[in-house]
Amino acid sequence: MPSLTIAIAKGRLQDETLDLFRRAGIALAKESLASRRLLIEDESGRYSFIFVKPSDVPVYVEYGVADAGVCGRDVLMESAADVHVPVDLGFGRCRLVVAGNQESAQRGYNPLTTARVATKYPRVTADYFQRKGVPVELIELSGSVELAPLLGLSEHIVDLVETGRTLRENELVVIDTIIESTARLIVNRASYHLKRVAVAELIEMLQPKPELKS
Ligand code: PRP
Repeated sequence: MPSLTIAIAKGRLQDETLDLFRRAGIALAKESLASRRLLIEDESGRYSFIFVKPSDVPVYVEYGVADAGVCGRDVLMESAADVHVPVDLGFGRCRLVVAGNQESAQRGYNPLTTARVATKYPRVTADYFQRKGVPVELIELSGSVELAPLLGLSEHIVDLVETGRTLRENELVVIDTIIESTARLIVNRASYHLKRVAVAELIEMLQPKPELKS
């Protein structure tokens, strides 16, 4: 029986996550990866992998359905899940920013006016505007958030920026950076104690190694 179940975020982090596991000696058979199966065992049979939406990774791990998972810091903060976060994996670097068009960037925020903000990150956004003392009306979307200011749905957005291309091509600019994000290994709090040997081994295998100088 597999010793650990690991939740993998589908999408932008998936390939780098699987590469990291492969380099650590945990490999998934090509046929399994090519299939539509959402629950896969690695070749050694020691690990089970589940493939889920990024925002669901902290949920599966917090509830112990998965012992561990890999997701971005952005998703983790938005979920506010009570999990252990032992390793910053270093890849998947991006920023969660407030953005808008040039005009709104020049205007800035006005504490006397409610900011309308479209986002996939309502909790982080609400916290940010509260800290700024600016009232906020949140418009929750689940994708293509950059459309909102173009169509007049909102003045600002809070969204991820990786290369900056999506903002640029939609004539939007960064107004402020809320957080810097990278992929994190997260571990269920009970598994961390009850399966401590297997978890410690996993943490050790995934720990970023210093570059060897030749
Ligand atoms: C993300 C994010 C931005 C874009 C940023 O969207 O929400 O839209 O990538 O990347 P860039 O700075 O490299 O252009 P994703 O591709 O995950 O799809 P979504 O819009 O459906 O959320």
